[in-house]
Amino acid sequence: MSDTPHLSDRPVLVVDFGAQYAQLIARRVREANVFSEVVPSTMAADEMLAKEPAAIILSGGPSSVYEEGAPSLDPAVLDAGVPVFGMCYGFQAMVQALGGTVERTGLGEYGSTPAQVSDTSSTLFNGQPSEQSVWMSHGDAVTEAPDGMRVTASTSGAPVAAFEDDERRLYGVQWHPEVMHSTFGQRVLENFLLRGAGLDGDWTAHNVVEALVEQVRETVGDKRVLCALSGGVDSSVAAALVQRAVGDQLTCVFVDHGLLRSGEAEQVEKDFVDATGVDLVVVDAREQFLSALAGVSDPETKRKIIGREFIRVFEQAARDVVGSAEREGHPVEFLVQGTLYPDVVESGGGTGTANIKSHHNVGGLPDDLQFKLVEPLRLLFKDEVRQVGLELGVPEEIVWRQPFPGPGLGIRIVGEVTAERLDILRAADQIARRELSAAGLDREIWQCPVVLLADVRSVGVQGDGRTYGHPVVLRPVSSEDAMTADWTRVPYDVLAKISTRITNEVPEVNRVVLDVTSKPPGTIEWE
Ligand code: XMP
Repeated sequence: MSDTPHLSDRPVLVVDFGAQYAQLIARRVREANVFSEVVPSTMAADEMLAKEPAAIILSGGPSSVYEEGAPSLDPAVLDAGVPVFGMCYGFQAMVQALGGTVERTGLGEYGSTPAQVSDTSSTLFNGQPSEQSVWMSHGDAVTEAPDGMRVTASTSGAPVAAFEDDERRLYGVQWHPEVMHSTFGQRVLENFLLRGAGLDGDWTAHNVVEALVEQVRETVGDKRVLCALSGGVDSSVAAALVQRAVGDQLTCVFVDHGLLRSGEAEQVEKDFVDATGVDLVVVDAREQFLSALAGVSDPETKRKIIGREFIRVFEQAARDVVGSAEREGHPVEFLVQGTLYPDVVESGGGTGTANIKSHHNVGGLPDDLQFKLVEPLRLLFKDEVRQVGLELGVPEEIVWRQPFPGPGLGIRIVGEVTAERLDILRAADQIARRELSAAGLDREIWQCPVVLLADVRSVGVQGDGRTYGHPVVLRPVSSEDAMTADWTRVPYDVLAKISTRITNEVPEVNRVVLDVTSKPPGTIEWE
């Protein structure tokens, strides 16, 4: 496998001019099977070029090129013989650097706009119609293209809406090809990457796995590795990848805190192990968590207790693994973390250690248990992690698992957590999950917490008698990133089926209610 390219070799650099578009552009480039990396516009030109980029894309941004302090483009980026594609602000920055004219014409355009393509056989527009809808967001417009640029599209507010120079391999569009409202946006981007820059499109799940496996082998050598498996997508795929790379040098620890949903612990302990061959240590800590949570109703206190107990249990298990590895003469040197690319970008760059986000990512270990981190997913977006997981044979139930909080069902019981209440919630949750899956709604719904209002009882009637049971709340939400969310409009007949089944099959529950609150003001979880 010596000819496998190193993953970060010759990336397409996406220069971030300060709007939220750069990450989206980077994802679209990956969708064209080309590796991409986001860099800040403050990065010096020689630093960018030192990365030997295969191409450079200049993103949109909120500024006007006239504003004082507006980010500018060092012409050296355009003179280096590297193919460059400017979009929106990046397009205008390119015009300024090349000596064209950007003017405040008073003809700003915002939203879907018809564009006329004057050459449908050009590098960018080959194979597309001469009229297409593009997504605009600009106040200033380019009125005069730089010397040597051929104008290939225009709109009513932007006489120079696209230009191309095949000799210098410089291209630009005034619009945002990365957003879905630009109907041929992805085609324009692919034309730049594959035709303009002549790239191969070999960033596929299969190649990514090969390259990552090679990389993990290089990093780890013959040392031992530890991983805390949570049952979530990221830690599972990271573990499967490291297992593929170094086999039994990896030991995974799964802390069964008893707060997972029905069947999830078994999926980790059995299905995941069968599929990947991972060496797994299971710690049954269910009793320990229950006694630590006894008598506690306050949500924050519950979270703290769960976090604290998790660290205690994991620490002990880690000590056992480390101790026996040392006795065998192979000390444990590395800890696997399922850090993803958005965390890396948001915490400020491509190198160094990303922030550890929450307790199940194992922060807070004592000094004598400090490891170097292996973060095999740190260049990947979530959808790529799923593809890599499928490529590695990780079970689909895990690969497509919806987000689930580290403290688990502990924060979905409003009131004290007890074994009996956990059983009630698990039964109700399993019915809701099965029915939502059967209705084909898994990919539409970001996640659907089912919440037991354990301290609430209401009167009901069932058969001949009155009941005095608990309500459960269904909280299906749609979201992009969990920062904001809307309640999902689940069809009434699906809701009816869930409600009927839960009240029939879970004797302690006599009411099912639907949460119709967006976030904000409501959070996704109830605690
Ligand atoms: P909220 O309830 O804040 O949730 O709208 C946003 C997202 O975060 C998840 N969540 C957690 N994840 N530890 C975690 O690992 C936690 O303590 C925690 N609390 C909430 C939640 O499921 C949703 O996806």
